[in-house]
Amino acid sequence: MPRVRSRRYLMCPPTHYTVSYEINPWMHAGVPTDPATALAQWERLRDLYLELGHRVDVIEPLPGCPDMVYAANGATVIDGVCYTARFHYAERAAEGPAYEKWFADAGFRTVRAQLTNEGEGDLLLAGRYILAGTGFRTDRAAHAEAQEVFGLPVISLQLVDPRFYHLDTALTVLDDDLVAYHPPAFSPGSRAVLHRLFPDAIIVGDDDAAHLGLNAVSDGEHVVHAPGASTFAEQLRERGLTPIAVDTSELLKGGGGAKCCTLEIREAGVPA
Ligand code: ARG
Repeated sequence: MPRVRSRRYLMCPPTHYTVSYEINPWMHAGVPTDPATALAQWERLRDLYLELGHRVDVIEPLPGCPDMVYAANGATVIDGVCYTARFHYAERAAEGPAYEKWFADAGFRTVRAQLTNEGEGDLLLAGRYILAGTGFRTDRAAHAEAQEVFGLPVISLQLVDPRFYHLDTALTVLDDDLVAYHPPAFSPGSRAVLHRLFPDAIIVGDDDAAHLGLNAVSDGEHVVHAPGASTFAEQLRERGLTPIAVDTSELLKGGGGAKCCTLEIREAGVPA
């Protein structure tokens, strides 16, 4: 019985994408980006979602916001409610209102965040829980705000390695009750929490994590991931999932992969 259901995603084309500042260890402002390659990789990702039967909406990119391509950071949307993002770094501040406007115009109820949070970069829905990262970007207090907004229990997880500055670089939600994660990215207590909640989780090693392999997108059957994460792909196959490698190397220069470029829109009434 296929578990897959059609998803709705929001993406932002890399029209203004470049690495002009450094706010994570993957970014090197001197390294040039190739706009044509970035666009081709982004289009391949969008086309793949369409081929898999998902819906993709597109937000207009803002000039002067080179990181807006990382749509996952733009908001958190569950059951038709959009909890807005409020960015840690001034360089990305304008993105929050831009995504908020998109959701308001699209008829979603929007709740403006009072506290710093970087959307689905740090707030990941896993079945009946929201897994929430903190340590580099999202304030721990925003976890409580998200819990109030969504009425879902929020599990705070402490990130400790700057390479894995957002939760979605260290953990992938594969299905309601299955996650994959890289334990060294978390504090000992948070590792213990993850082990308790997900004793059957896929444990991802250094090599795959270092390719941002965990910055992956799952629809419950297919898992779109970076090509470098070959052991992870094997682990996914062992669990009956279908890994699909998509090259996002150009977007990795800004510190993101497939998941960073993909914000899931969960409409009202769609089961979490
Ligand atoms: N350059 C961006 C930043 O540092 C990358 C964001 C990646 N997005 C993500 N969901 N992890 O904010």
